[in-house]
Amino acid sequence: MSTPELTVAAPAQDETPGSEWWRTAVIYQIYPRSFADTNGDGIGDLAGVTAHLDDLQELGVDAIWLSPFQRSPQKDAGYDVSDYCDVDPLFGTLADFDAMLAASHARGIRIIVDLVPNHSSDQHVWFQEALAAAPGSRERARYMFRDGTGIDGDLPPNNWESVFGGPAWTRTTDPDGRPGQWYLHLFDTSQPDFDWSNEEVREEFRRVLRFWLDRGADGFRVDVAHGLVKEAGLPDYTPDPDAGSMGGDEASVPYWGQPGVHEIYRDWHEVLAEYDGDRALCAEAWLPTIAKTSLWVRPDEMHQAFNFEYLETDWDAAALRAVVTESLRAYPAVGAPSTWVLSNHDVVRHASRLALTAENPQGSGIGPKSEGQPIPEVGLRRARAATSVMLALPGSAYLYQGEELGLPEVIDLPDEARQDPTWFRTKGERYGRDGCRVPIPWAAEAPAYGFSPDGESWLPQPAEWATLARDVQQDRPDSTLSLYRDLLAERRARSLGSGKLAWIDDLGPEVLAFTNSGVTVIANLGEAAVPLPEGRVILSSGPVDAGSIPADTTVWLEQS
Ligand code: NOJ
Ligand code: CA
Repeated sequence: MSTPELTVAAPAQDETPGSEWWRTAVIYQIYPRSFADTNGDGIGDLAGVTAHLDDLQELGVDAIWLSPFQRSPQKDAGYDVSDYCDVDPLFGTLADFDAMLAASHARGIRIIVDLVPNHSSDQHVWFQEALAAAPGSRERARYMFRDGTGIDGDLPPNNWESVFGGPAWTRTTDPDGRPGQWYLHLFDTSQPDFDWSNEEVREEFRRVLRFWLDRGADGFRVDVAHGLVKEAGLPDYTPDPDAGSMGGDEASVPYWGQPGVHEIYRDWHEVLAEYDGDRALCAEAWLPTIAKTSLWVRPDEMHQAFNFEYLETDWDAAALRAVVTESLRAYPAVGAPSTWVLSNHDVVRHASRLALTAENPQGSGIGPKSEGQPIPEVGLRRARAATSVMLALPGSAYLYQGEELGLPEVIDLPDEARQDPTWFRTKGERYGRDGCRVPIPWAAEAPAYGFSPDGESWLPQPAEWATLARDVQQDRPDSTLSLYRDLLAERRARSLGSGKLAWIDDLGPEVLAFTNSGVTVIANLGEAAVPLPEGRVILSSGPVDAGSIPADTTVWLEQS
């Protein structure tokens, strides 16, 4: 193959960002129940996080985002909070949280707490008080109670559907046993929505923010940040059946992305600004365009928003270039960094998703009967190549626990093991998210692969995971763990997070290529090998030899 000459375009963005840590940080998501269990009940805990901080430091991450560990009946794996200012006994105590935070900070790792403000658990004292109180009372005004329609109010107030399937309204029973009002729950019946037009709700969440900020939290990941405000009058709405369950593809939805949310986050921004150390808010907001999402991170609102448009982009060079270009235009235009993410606890792990050949709406998961089953080797190759692109991009990147081991989605979980409310509420029509939540393997030979001392695991782990355990990958230079370590070390050493990206056009339609801070990144997304330009290979996502880059492979080059 002949060696190509490269032409580098002008940088795609030229603003001068600030120096706050969250602009460039690599943030590692811990899903506590599946990370590490220390007391043998088969559910990960905060002590398990503390026990593995050295591993995370060695991996090279800047911060940890912990999915909910607050007190909860666990109907939606902790996204149903009954006490926002306490640790669920399943995960430990506030003292365990404090110890974990102190040990993280001692290693230079920041801690981001998950905050769930759209809804509480139905076991929250406020909701229990609301059920016991009369229609029109102060207690009911904290949630979205409405009279029903139809004869005797036996039909729901409108036609909204729950994200997890089925109606978004549940009728209550009055203390005298008669059917009463209905309450709104965009998610499970056990997750009633707050009424954010109520100042008492706003004041309570300021208190919750301060509670965790006072304990030293460096910021919050804000759950369903696009859902807090509902359109006045609660008009009927029928979702697009092909759109993701959290919106994202739909232009105008009466419960997603309403303009009233901006005022709430401006208020929170001020609360965080009272504290030292650049505390940050990150929005989980599934909105239809990057331009719209960028409005959430204007200078006085959130600091970051997840880039789900990037996560949802197919393994296609032109599509990826378009989404990166738009991200590096829209976010810096409002003074914010772009973020990048490929996996989390709600989507099919990218080591499987990138090899799917059928549509898979967000939150649906895949199971044994799903169409377009991925080929594991192709998925892993693409995942390694995709992460090697992501970690070369300027801005802040999110990793999801286990992706550094190349874990695939667990597709063949037995039906009786599944726990996601989506599975139950759709009567098995959508598999849901359990397949990306299986406890991670630390040690090939240990019970539960080192996840739990006596071999317990709240979801069964596949037999093949022995070969993916962390200890097996630890010293192998070609392992996925070693690749992640190298990517993170080079990213940090070369300050790629604060660099500028410039595209390279010469390498053909199936190649994505750019420079950032002296590193030339070339990803071959096509089926045929492409020539490798001159230069020293810093790292590559797969084997590269004889002057060519094979299919589904990314190379970082240093050119003299
Ligand atoms: C988004 C969370 O990431 C997801 O896991 C949860 O089910 C919903 N929000 C409801 O809180
Ligand atoms: Ca435990």
